[in-house]
Amino acid sequence: MERKAILVLGLMIIFAGGFLFLYYRQKDNANLPAAAEVDEKKQVALTFDDGPHAIYTPQLLKGLKERGVKATFFVIGENAEQNPEIIAQMYEEGHLIGNHTMHHVAINQMSWEEAEKEVGEANDVIASITGERPEYIRPPYGECNDKKSCPFDMILVFWNVDTLDWKVLDSGRVVENVIKNVEDGDIILLHDIYETSVEAALIIVDRLQAMGYEFVTVDELLME
Ligand code: NI
Repeated sequence: MERKAILVLGLMIIFAGGFLFLYYRQKDNANLPAAAEVDEKKQVALTFDDGPHAIYTPQLLKGLKERGVKATFFVIGENAEQNPEIIAQMYEEGHLIGNHTMHHVAINQMSWEEAEKEVGEANDVIASITGERPEYIRPPYGECNDKKSCPFDMILVFWNVDTLDWKVLDSGRVVENVIKNVEDGDIILLHDIYETSVEAALIIVDRLQAMGYEFVTVDELLME
């Protein structure tokens, strides 16, 4: 009888110890992510290539302004030249303007001199409108993806979420592509030369803001 009582007491101590251990471990785990969430808001950057477009880009700028969102535009030099007022508006409204070459060319398939001219001319056009020379470049076709094959004195920017908006031309599918794949710190690729992409972009902003995301320009995202 006495032996049995010692055994039961022993088991009770083991269970109680185990319970306390699990209780405190779970409490610690529960505290950590909650504290981190309070400190840092999830951030993403919307990036728009190939514009500006005379009709769709102003619609996009209006929608972004209404939502208090800053984005990044990798503009084509010749499109900027044809729509200087849109570039000026982007700049005044606090968006970041980057280089996407003068004529949307694959810069690693041309001579160094030609490539330098393509990049330099686009920077000249943008600087002549805004007074500020772009520091960021997104080479067309995602080529030139390291500093060695693309030795410009500019910061290369690619993307994490490819919406394939130019291919699907369907705002609902573009929105779903983003919502399904987006994570904190992502750079989202869109093109402001399609009506469906502009529609999608504004829905993406509303949905992600509701999910607790904050929109920043790529320079802010890359600084961290
Ligand atoms: Ni492009």
